[in-house]
Formats: sequence, structure tokens, C-alpha cells
Amino acid sequence: MDMDWKNLDFAMRPTAGSIRLDYDGQTWSEPAVMREATISLPIGAQALHYGQACFEGLKAFSLQDGGVGLFRPEMNARRMRQSAERICMVAPPEALFVEACLRAVELNLEYVPPYGTGASLYLRPLLIGTEPLLPVMPSSTFTLLVMVSPVGPYYQDGFAPVDALILEGYDRAAPRGTGQSKVAGNYAASLKSTLEAKAQGFPINLYLDAREGKYVDEFGTSNFIAITRDQRYLTPDSPSILPSITNDSLRQLAKDMGLEVVQAPIPVSALEQFVEVGACGTAAIITPIASVTYRDKKIRFGNGEAGPVLTRLYQELQSIQYGEVDDRHGWITRIKPTSQRPHHQ
Ligand code: PLP
Ligand code: COI
Repeated sequence: MDMDWKNLDFAMRPTAGSIRLDYDGQTWSEPAVMREATISLPIGAQALHYGQACFEGLKAFSLQDGGVGLFRPEMNARRMRQSAERICMVAPPEALFVEACLRAVELNLEYVPPYGTGASLYLRPLLIGTEPLLPVMPSSTFTLLVMVSPVGPYYQDGFAPVDALILEGYDRAAPRGTGQSKVAGNYAASLKSTLEAKAQGFPINLYLDAREGKYVDEFGTSNFIAITRDQRYLTPDSPSILPSITNDSLRQLAKDMGLEVVQAPIPVSALEQFVEVGACGTAAIITPIASVTYRDKKIRFGNGEAGPVLTRLYQELQSIQYGEVDDRHGWITRIKPTSQRPHHQ
């Protein structure tokens, strides 16, 4: 495969294909290979009109020993079931979801960026309601697609700090809304504020809680993490943020490093106390945040470079993901040929 692996951006690229599963109202079909990059849908499909759509994001990595590993797919399987439940969809059982992901990687092994390039294969499982319905009601049929794309960093310069903006005119998720779920509508709702922030020169938006506008929630595509002067790892406890698998992993690694981990509401006024701030997620990995601008005030963290604690966490996480150190928490699922895997059901 002739690709400029070291200079990939975060984009959708043509691959060998995707994996498709259909739910007919009673059972899920076996994962099937889909070579074409288009699907045919009834024009009345529920997903298209009323937004019954949710998705996941996870990565496969070329390991140092020559294998290929998928990072914590069972966590994405569980989260897709939670997202689906919130908007009355039927998601595949966890084992079937993981199987579909493994099949998608297996189909696209030549698109998994080689070890040492710093890139990875991004998997995007997408669940949509396919039934044509006019009333606002749940679909009874669903399709799961697992598409993939080789990717580099989400933000252009990789592990280089970016400036964030809090735009007070927009909320990401309503109290008791769908902020905890990875549903398509959350992202549509964030487009306008994201464009507005970009136009003002900020690549990333930080959202506050929608009820009071007092607490830090998360970034549009990633969780908020911060390091205090006394070496604590802080991350918001909020009912409206996505439970990030990267954040969960980093909390474990931070504990392993001897940091105290605190999940608590973070008042926006506390931003000034932080010495390092990061945005964490599958796509973002850890993106260091150089500053947050709020009401014409620019709050800076550290000296504008990635700080030492987040740098170490980033290196620890990546060294597990690339199989350079012992997978001590059992986070890597190795890709084995289908013949060596137990058949589900
Ligand atoms: N928050 C939002 C809104 C996201 O879209 C994502 C990306 O998936 C995350 C957080 C990070 O979650 P994860 O680490 O599971 O990718
Ligand atoms: C991810 O990090 O996997 C995401 O889904 C973020 C964004 C690309 C929507």
C-alpha cells in the first residue's frame, strides 16, 4: 500500500470495504463484507428525518511485534448499547459488535498504518434506524456499518498545544438531554459553534454545563482533563458529557503513576489553577490545550508547550496502544484470523 503514512490527517479515505449487519426487528444478521462505500436506504428512513443514529470511534494499531491490536473494543460495544438505549434503538450484543470490528480490521489489514508511523486505523461503527416512518416513533429495523479509515492526528499538529474558546451563546447538550450518548444529533448541534470558534482562530470549543453555565463540561469532540500544581488529575463529573474511554484509560494510567485522580464538577473559575489542560479522546488522543478564552480573558496553561504530566500520560497510553510495553490492563484485543475465533451464538 503506497500511502504517506507519516503525514496522514484525520480524514475518510477509500479502503477495502466495510462490515454490515442488519436487524430485521428480531435478529441480527451475520457480519457481511461490503465493498462499496454507499448504501441504499428508504427515503423515509427514520435516521434521515428524526436522527435515530448513533456511532462509535475506536482505533486499531500496528503493534511493535508485528501484530495488530484493537484498543478496548468491548468498551465501545457497551457504550453503543447505552447510546442506542437512550434513543430507542436496538444495538448488537457486545460480542457481535466486537466481532464486526475485528472483521473490519481484518478486511483492511493493508490499511493499518505500519508500526513507527504514529498513525492508526480509525474504526467508525455507525448504527441507523432504517424503517420508513412518518410519525415520530422508533424504527424497528436497524443497520450497523463499521467503516474504517487510516488516520493521523485530529488536530493538525498532533501533540502540539491548541487554543480553546468558550462561546457562551451555544450549549452542547441540554440537562437531561443526550450529552452522555454518542448520538449523531449532538454533533450536528455543535457544528455552528465549532465554525464560529474556528472563524475566530480557535480550533477547539470548550462547553460549559447548560443549566448554569458555571461548570466545565467537555470539548466538542473530547473530554476535558487538567493537572493541578499539586499533581492531581482532574476531570469533570457531569451528567451531560460523553464517558470517554480514553479518559477512563488515562485515569488508570494516572493512578499507576501515583497521581490522585479526582472526578468532580469543575467551576469555570477554577481554570486559572491548572498548570496543564488537555482534550482527550480516541481521535484527539491527548491534545494539549495552550489556553482557554472566556469572556475576553485568555487563561494560559504552562508555557505554551505540552506539559510534563500530560506528555508522560500520552507516551504511556501510546506505548500500550502500539504494544511497546506490557498490556498490563488487558486493553488490547489482537486481530486473529476468523478461523481462530469462536463463533458467536
Ligand atoms: N467527548 C465527545 C463529545 C466525543 O465525541 C468523544 C469522542 O469519541 C470523546 C469525548 C472521547 O471519547 P473516547 O475517548 O471514548 O473516544
Ligand atoms: C472520536 O474521538 O472517536 C470521535 O468520535 C470524535 C469525533 C471525530 C466525532
